[in-house]
Amino acid sequence: MCADYKVTAWEVSGTIDYEKLIKEFGTSHLTKDLKERLRLKTKSKKLHPFFKRNFIYSHRDFDKVLENIDNNNFYVYTGRGPSGEMHLGHLISFLTSKWLQDEFGCNVYIMISDDEKFSVKKNLTLEQIDKQSDKDIEEIAAIGFDPDKTFIFKDTEYIKHLYKFALQFAKKTNLSNAKAIFGFTNETNLGHMFYPNIQNAPTAFERNKFCLIPAGIDQDPYWRIQRDVAEKLGFKKVTAIHNKLLPPLQGMDGKMSSSDNKTAIYLTDTPELVKSKVNKYAFSGGRPTLEEHRKLGGVPEIDVAYNWLYILLEEDDIKIKEIYNKYKSGDMTSGEIKKILIEKLNIFLENHKQNKVKNKKLIERYKYTGKLAKEMWKL
Ligand code: TRP
Repeated sequence: MCADYKVTAWEVSGTIDYEKLIKEFGTSHLTKDLKERLRLKTKSKKLHPFFKRNFIYSHRDFDKVLENIDNNNFYVYTGRGPSGEMHLGHLISFLTSKWLQDEFGCNVYIMISDDEKFSVKKNLTLEQIDKQSDKDIEEIAAIGFDPDKTFIFKDTEYIKHLYKFALQFAKKTNLSNAKAIFGFTNETNLGHMFYPNIQNAPTAFERNKFCLIPAGIDQDPYWRIQRDVAEKLGFKKVTAIHNKLLPPLQGMDGKMSSSDNKTAIYLTDTPELVKSKVNKYAFSGGRPTLEEHRKLGGVPEIDVAYNWLYILLEEDDIKIKEIYNKYKSGDMTSGEIKKILIEKLNIFLENHKQNKVKNKKLIERYKYTGKLAKEMWKL
């Protein structure tokens, strides 16, 4: 692993070289050609901006899924570790999953890995984690998944069904493999060491279909271990599309943290808080003085406000190009681009909050009574 950044299943820091990660992890580029093939198969004939703008940029065997994607040949699996309040970056994989469900009508399975967070985080009790899990499920329900095609489960509650799959993965993985892939040491506790088998269990839920995982590239080590053993167990190798990580407010390095509230915008932040965080902390690609800025122009590539608009908040290609050009030429100031970001963020969050209230009544269906949930409890 390179010295100036670190990306593991439990830790991300430094200036991430996403191209290098593809090589280190052995994944493949999501090429223009693949994206165009995907676009042609969608209902809307439009790509989600995450794809268009190369925020989802790498994959494993997505080409295989694409070959027959219009025949309902895949299901989506993603998840959330409930260790602290959810921020914007945590929504990426859920937004991608929702888009896939809208375009292809696929089932979506969502794991709440309370067991993982209990094992990995030193100071959290099971009770605290359970409270966080319930809050997170409300945030995830706000995304508006199809209640008959979506199953949300907490690991400690659904374990009876997960365990059968987890055991099979566990038996095929020895300590030296697990050490090589996850960096386990003599100090790693056994809960943590067993957990990867649980995270991989849902990759065996629907045996005759591809399991497709939209997630941050930091989660890839799990899929690697699954792919090493799946076929020996009679399961399909899991497939994945990997997104980059939404940069923290402080600059383009690392990822937002659940525990440092200055680095992130939380889903529950008030409009005033959003405004003050962006103004105070969002790393600017502007110049030190207005005079210099007008003369030399800003650097959108390193400007967090620009990047958040590009990745998440300004879907309109013409508008985002206009912002880029104006900022780069010095026409638009750093204060002005931040103002656009604040407005867009607050609209996004207000919408999300309203959806959260509206969709609360769907949670029972996602967990227990929807068509897919019912089937999964009978498994
Ligand atoms: N390990 C993930 C986290 O720490 C949570 C998770 C569980 C997950 N299952 C997943 C993420 C499947 C992506 C896909 O947040």
